[in-house]
Amino acid sequence: MKSSEIREKFLKFFESKGHTIVRSSPLVPGNDPTMLLTNSGMVQFKDVFLGLDTRPYSRATSVQRCVRAGGKHNDLENVGYTARHHTFFEMLGNFSFGDYFKRDAIQYAWELLTKVYGLPAEKLTVTVYFEDDEAYDIWANEIGVPTERIIRIGDNKGSRYASDNFWQMADVGPCGPCTEIFYDHGADIWGGPPGSAEEDGDRFIEIWNLVFMQFNRDEAGNMNKLPKPCVDTGMGMERLAAVLQHVHSNYEIDLFQNLIKAAARETGATDMESKSLRVIADHIRAASFLIVDGIIPGPEGHGYVLRRIIRRALRHGHKLGQTKPFFYKLVADLNIEMGVAYPELAEARDRVAATLKAEEERFGETLENGMKILEAQLAKDPTKLDGGTAFTLYDTYGFPLDLTADICRERNITLDEAGFNAAMEQQKKTARAAGKFKMAANVEYTGEKTRFVGYDDMSVNSKVIALYANGVSVQELKQGESGIVVLDTTPFYAESGGQVGDQGAIKATGALFDVEDTLKIQADVFGQHGVLTEGSLKVGDAVSAEVDLHKRGRTIRNHSATHLMHKALREVLGGHVAQKGSLVDPDKTRFDFSHNAPLTAEQIAEVEAKVNKEILENHATKAQHMSFDDAVKHGAMALFGEKYGDEVRVLDIGTSKELCGGVHVQRTGDIGLFKIIGEGGVAAGIRRVEAVTGEGALALVQGMARKLGDAAAAFKANPDELLFKIGAVQDQVKSLEKELAALKSKLASGQGDELATKAVDVNGIKVLAAVLEGADVATLRETMDKLKDKLKTAAIVLAAVNDGKVSLIAGVTADATAKVKAGELVNFVAQQVGGKGGGRPDMAQAGGTDPSGLPNALAGVAAWIGGRA
Ligand code: ALA
Repeated sequence: MKSSEIREKFLKFFESKGHTIVRSSPLVPGNDPTMLLTNSGMVQFKDVFLGLDTRPYSRATSVQRCVRAGGKHNDLENVGYTARHHTFFEMLGNFSFGDYFKRDAIQYAWELLTKVYGLPAEKLTVTVYFEDDEAYDIWANEIGVPTERIIRIGDNKGSRYASDNFWQMADVGPCGPCTEIFYDHGADIWGGPPGSAEEDGDRFIEIWNLVFMQFNRDEAGNMNKLPKPCVDTGMGMERLAAVLQHVHSNYEIDLFQNLIKAAARETGATDMESKSLRVIADHIRAASFLIVDGIIPGPEGHGYVLRRIIRRALRHGHKLGQTKPFFYKLVADLNIEMGVAYPELAEARDRVAATLKAEEERFGETLENGMKILEAQLAKDPTKLDGGTAFTLYDTYGFPLDLTADICRERNITLDEAGFNAAMEQQKKTARAAGKFKMAANVEYTGEKTRFVGYDDMSVNSKVIALYANGVSVQELKQGESGIVVLDTTPFYAESGGQVGDQGAIKATGALFDVEDTLKIQADVFGQHGVLTEGSLKVGDAVSAEVDLHKRGRTIRNHSATHLMHKALREVLGGHVAQKGSLVDPDKTRFDFSHNAPLTAEQIAEVEAKVNKEILENHATKAQHMSFDDAVKHGAMALFGEKYGDEVRVLDIGTSKELCGGVHVQRTGDIGLFKIIGEGGVAAGIRRVEAVTGEGALALVQGMARKLGDAAAAFKANPDELLFKIGAVQDQVKSLEKELAALKSKLASGQGDELATKAVDVNGIKVLAAVLEGADVATLRETMDKLKDKLKTAAIVLAAVNDGKVSLIAGVTADATAKVKAGELVNFVAQQVGGKGGGRPDMAQAGGTDPSGLPNALAGVAAWIGGRA
């Protein structure tokens, strides 16, 4: 059975059991700092499990593209070395959101495997979580699996709930006990049943995991019950294909065979069983799909996962003897295998190949630099390589540890792997600390959903249906109290999709609640957060709810401009620009997107021009509800993190089309002026642009005009002449500096003449020690030369004090250096002013930090010379 048929049969089976077919979400989960990459089918439904979001269906099924190459679920190191691990794979899943639970999940799985796919029941073994008697009984009594093939697995990973049969999406988030189904590939393959000492072999392969989602694990490790028990299952498509295609390794299935041949073609390898070929075939899938989903290779985060995968593939190419770029050439082969099932791959294939090629060219260089570092370290200690260097090679020079280990082995050098792991652990800790999980306001609510009317109405009559103070439900809020108000109907937009929540007022007879923010407390329940500034407010009170029109107006102008800017950025920079995050508030729009170079001034100007052109054309905004497929046909951009329910809201603003639930202007002209105010990098391959609109843009322009006016006034010029005037002033400063230098020199030589008369005779040498007021070092030297000329046989010290620092220069004429050395002379003085100096016998310089010692030091010079001349 071909892979395409396996996918189709799976989806159709669950569709026949009342499940809605949902398409794969991208590999980058939207707005979820707990998770780097989509590692299973449930990721796009996480908020539904948590009760923070709803869908128009309670049963879903999908074929989800997944990557497990980092974070909680990481199979990278196993790839190529087992028959069943991949970085990229497809997960077949069925999901129940508070609908069916253990019994149906198990029955469906059994029916599909044994009836539809026709697997012999005796080849299947199952595991359950050791405490889960309910699942055990269903398998034993209802399905009829012999008890010797039902294995209980406990907390076998060292702590409570750390078990092969307790599944967690990440360190925090939805989790629960699970039951797993294993296929026995036969006694001729090494390995033992789950729970046995040989379980890591390839004989018994886990094909399907059924998770009974019951808890939300929080940061403190508490297991909070989910609103409703749910089901999340995942079956590895490639593993099932191996079973159904009667091969034992995933690498022998249809999807992989041609990729392995292509890898051999490009590397010149002849041994088709080579592990390196498998690694390359696996990695081209992961690398290509990560790039399809907007990731660019880089030093951290998503980009780093991608980079490691690519470099690991290149290193295996290297091992097979290929030192030139080759990996990118496999994109065409991958497209033949998977481009039909994933049109997004077909569309992006040129970009994917170009990105891979650039990374291959780059790694050629780091490989060489890394080798230099390695050689330098080994020159210091030729017996062992420390973990720190191995980690630097890995982290900075892109050397996978196995590459470093190979080199060490060849030279009989020990590699400190523990030190490497410690450095790695430290890095992971830092990475984990960077991504914390923010829970929504944790208040209990069981009432009606909120009716949101704020797309059209800014002020409505409504009713209070719940009140909260300090996180607990109350019947009444009193004057001065802060809290949350839930209304049956609200005009207040609750923060989502990057747009901040509305502010405003809720008024009742004698009462005024100042709404400071609006946030969802559940998927469709809005909470108005704020403080009761007057009177008292009770559940059941009739109120009038009024949005702050001014702030709302500013926010929506920024939001609509964001859509136009997104489109303009794609036009100016390229189709790889994908939204990575946004924040829209009354002051600005902040937009993060994938792109790996700073924007030039010209590109910024071009984006501004495009957006302002759309504004001037004053198109009417159109919001339509339609199916996701129709939205795609309509040309709407589907954003990361967008929830693909049955029906989506498509916003046409100007020529931009996006899926968006936000509030927008009625016509583009409402936006007023659009102006970018800043651009910068926020992470590898991610840029951030900030921009303002409407009043914000006016304030910006007025502010710039004011500063320009102030500057012009300071230069006594009008703004048009300002640059010219600044140039003139700069010229003037230069000529004044020259004049000043000339004057100083003249002054110094004047002082020189006068000073010459103060020299005293010490045994035939003219000795002079003096301070030259206001002189710099150049003047001191110049004066020294003049004095030497004048005094003939002489020993001279000149000093100047500037900003509390002493500059000293000593000169001795050639005929006196036999008796007095300038270096010693300057040192004699310098030591008394907190300094030190030296130089040639005829000329020496020094500095000091203590001018108070100077008069005495100079006064002592004649006597000091007397002592030697
Ligand atoms: N989410 C579960 C898994 O990935 C089904 O194994």
